[in-house]
Amino acid sequence: MSVSPAPGRPAEDWWKSAVVYQVYVRSFADADGDGVGDLAGVRSRLPYLRDLGVDALWLTPFYRSPMVDGGYDVADYRDVDPVFGTLADFDHMITDAHALGLRIIVDIVPNHTSDAHPWFTAALASPPGSAERDRYLFRDGRGPGGDLPPNDWESIFGGPAWTRVPDGQWYLHLFDPAQPDLNWRHPEVRAEFEDVLRFWLDRGVDGFRIDVAHGMIKAEGLPDVGDGVPAGQRQVELLGRARLPYFDQDEVHDIYRAWRPILDSYPGGRMAVAEAWAETPQRLARYIGPDELHQAFNFDFLDATWSADSFRKVIDTALAEATIVGAPTTWVLSNHDKQRHVTRYGDGALGLRRARAAALMMLALPGSVYLYQGEELGLPEVLDLPDELRQDPAFRRTGESRDGCRVPLPWSGDVPPYGFGPAGAAPAWLPAPPTWRARSVTAQTGVPDSTLELYRAALRLRRDHPALPGDPAGAGDPAGAGGPAGAGGPAGAGGPAGAGGVRWRESEPGVLAFSRAAPAGAPELTCVVNFGDEPVTVRDYGTPILTSELLAGDADGTTLPTDTAGWFVRPVTG
Ligand code: BGC
Repeated sequence: MSVSPAPGRPAEDWWKSAVVYQVYVRSFADADGDGVGDLAGVRSRLPYLRDLGVDALWLTPFYRSPMVDGGYDVADYRDVDPVFGTLADFDHMITDAHALGLRIIVDIVPNHTSDAHPWFTAALASPPGSAERDRYLFRDGRGPGGDLPPNDWESIFGGPAWTRVPDGQWYLHLFDPAQPDLNWRHPEVRAEFEDVLRFWLDRGVDGFRIDVAHGMIKAEGLPDVGDGVPAGQRQVELLGRARLPYFDQDEVHDIYRAWRPILDSYPGGRMAVAEAWAETPQRLARYIGPDELHQAFNFDFLDATWSADSFRKVIDTALAEATIVGAPTTWVLSNHDKQRHVTRYGDGALGLRRARAAALMMLALPGSVYLYQGEELGLPEVLDLPDELRQDPAFRRTGESRDGCRVPLPWSGDVPPYGFGPAGAAPAWLPAPPTWRARSVTAQTGVPDSTLELYRAALRLRRDHPALPGDPAGAGDPAGAGGPAGAGGPAGAGGPAGAGGVRWRESEPGVLAFSRAAPAGAPELTCVVNFGDEPVTVRDYGTPILTSELLAGDADGTTLPTDTAGWFVRPVTG
């Protein structure tokens, strides 16, 4: 069964305002009881996701892999790893998802393979200069005997980006040594990935999340980064501020110009979203457009600190970028690589309160939203995992670990793993803390002030309210109907509806308020967020329809407490 488009939107444009739920497959639901999540587990929980109100799922890699980097080290791009199930499990899962109106986006990892990929094992078994080695980036070392790495590049996971093989050559790996970088100037590499795209498109996927989308092409000659890196910093810290010779090279766009016609040759709006980092918004914008990719993650929103100024700035920038690229932006607060935002915002009750407010802010903005599994439960980062259980390869090299945001979800029950697996299952691959008993799906279901019910209500309104959320080409957003995204750019307080129909409202310091334009006759919706230390009285925006905390009202208006957001509606006058 095909998936029907959002009301007022052609099927091809579904992604423009979609709410996409990121499933970190290893930690979502374990159907076979081995302690690791799997595709049958995803399938069993699809009704939960449909009822939550999301439009699509992004599944992190489930391909055959030695799991050195949680599956971002792929040994076979056309098969499911046995720990996650089989291709038949994938087919059942996607059939059920489509029947429930949910689209499926899969991760594609083109920058590197696993060192267990047959191409790499063949490269190791072949001599320097062989055709087999040419699919990767093998080089002779520098210095006497070639004992030094070929250049000064650093791995994102720490240490040099080169590893030496027994015959003396070195190979490049921007991530773990078990993730050798491919040579994207090699025609076989290009042909292979075009075929992999078709393989999954033929199985019905609705889109791809492209891992390290800015990394595939390296500068000719593999030049040193040099000494522009401030003392005490790692090269990766220059990401987004300076161009590194291994990221965001112009030729990478040739790859996407070849991929886009493949996506477009399938019906129903098959899309691609880039995990890309670039020096400037203008350079990031080059990844997006009718002849390249559909979207890129907007990590500035995730990186914003908890203040009105910080969020105002990133929202304005994102809306301006949407204008540059002619497509709505994306909003994301957490993912499998970053500390969960409850913890980033202060942890405990404070962090949760802010996270709930942030969710209402994000879900009122135009564009698409990427939720990370468990944020709808208000899960914090697990900070006290025993070191011996941590699996992130970066941990051994840098001491930093992403395991704390990857702890398996609590679904139900009183004892770990809280319904993650069936009764009698092996312990989950990472243990949930005892406090997660109260955070499980069943513990929060039907509890009016729970975070889960807040997300459910917000997603329902986002779908149903005429002023939300859409993009300028969508229904319910007259600000730019049919025209390019964000006509007019960011609006100042009291100005006309600007990018995506967002109109900033006059507000006191520490408070953000923006209205979403509604079609004639429909009520306007205003989102107000109080980042300040004191409660504020909110007037003129109408009646609250959803708030992240309980509000008090009096004759003067509504009191919005600190670290709280609310959605207000008022009939449009004049
Ligand atoms: C993924 C990480 C992964 C890395 C290497 C990132 O973009 O999100 O989880 O470790 O790519 O594939």
